[in-house]
Amino acid sequence: MSFRLQPSPPAHPNRCQLFGPGSNPKLFPKMAASDADVINLDLEDSVAPDDKDAARQNVITATHEIEWERKTLSVRINSLDTPYWYRDVVDILEQGADRIDQIMIPKVGCAADIYAVDALVTAIEIAKGRMKPIAFEVIIESAAGLSHVNEIAAASPRLKAMSLGAADFAASMGMQTTGIGGTQENYYMLHGGAQHFSDPWHWAQTAIVAACRTHGILPVDGPFGDFNDDEGYRAQARRSATLGMVGKWAIHPKQIALANEVFTPSDVAVTEAREILAAMEAAKSRGEGATVYKGRLVDIASIKQAQVIVQQSQMIAENV
Ligand code: COA
Ligand code: MG
Repeated sequence: MSFRLQPSPPAHPNRCQLFGPGSNPKLFPKMAASDADVINLDLEDSVAPDDKDAARQNVITATHEIEWERKTLSVRINSLDTPYWYRDVVDILEQGADRIDQIMIPKVGCAADIYAVDALVTAIEIAKGRMKPIAFEVIIESAAGLSHVNEIAAASPRLKAMSLGAADFAASMGMQTTGIGGTQENYYMLHGGAQHFSDPWHWAQTAIVAACRTHGILPVDGPFGDFNDDEGYRAQARRSATLGMVGKWAIHPKQIALANEVFTPSDVAVTEAREILAAMEAAKSRGEGATVYKGRLVDIASIKQAQVIVQQSQMIAENV
């Protein structure tokens, strides 16, 4: 164990990040009235090139005119390999309301990408006297992004969250699939003649969680494309939660309740975690570091595991 303590991540619920194209402002009031914890107004890949300028203006207007309630309000800018991104940052921060909490930077490949946006944002904040520092979320969605995930996670104190973008990631890696997240039918093992499906996103997710936890950042699972497949979404989200991710994107309002369900610790899980803490308190008073709970070993590490669940539940209850 390093003597350096693992930093705590931001205490903001991030169970569901709802996306909507900046070119479709009719969706904005519905997004604001939804149960998503984070709103991402998109200027990037859901907006056609000819609509980029109009989308930017729609988003600026929406930051002033719509009541976004307790939600984290985020704008996804275009990636640094496009001619749009600098204008996104300048216009959104010069003309957008102070209500904006965050900029989401897609397709980051190295720490210098964050540095470049940070420098621009910092200059605008000073020039315009913006009082609330803008947070960053980045999307890991390329081979370079995953290769450099640790240096990216350490790149700026503005960084609060990091998502896996399955579609662009799959393309960058040369994966033979057009599916956005979830089970991929060619990714299986054979045993006794039966197919056993494996999880092609597992390694990327785990690398992201480790980088995020090292630097006190929230790890988030990205989109699940088939919005009519509730069970597929649940299964993907449960795997992500089990690996340590705190939330998942919604690209359709149907997916919001599913994300909130999976990423809010259940009453059963919280009760069990509290019982483990009580069992360990009792063990401690007997001078023991380990005991038996429901027929299985619990010890001092179990206290930390149980605290993850109890603290997440409390944080959500206090902030929703
Ligand atoms: N946020 C809030 N409300 C939304 C929504 C969203 N992202 N997407 C759809 N809705 C609303 C619709 O306006 C409709 O409302 P109504 O009942 O008042 O008419 C209702 O939810 C049902 O919508 P539906 O007809 O099933 O979907 P659609 O065909 O209108 O739109 C998509 C489907 C996928 C095009 C749309 O959901 C969308 O644009 N999603 C976001 C895409 C995105 O941002 N991608 C970037 C990140 S990967
Ligand atoms: Mg993408």
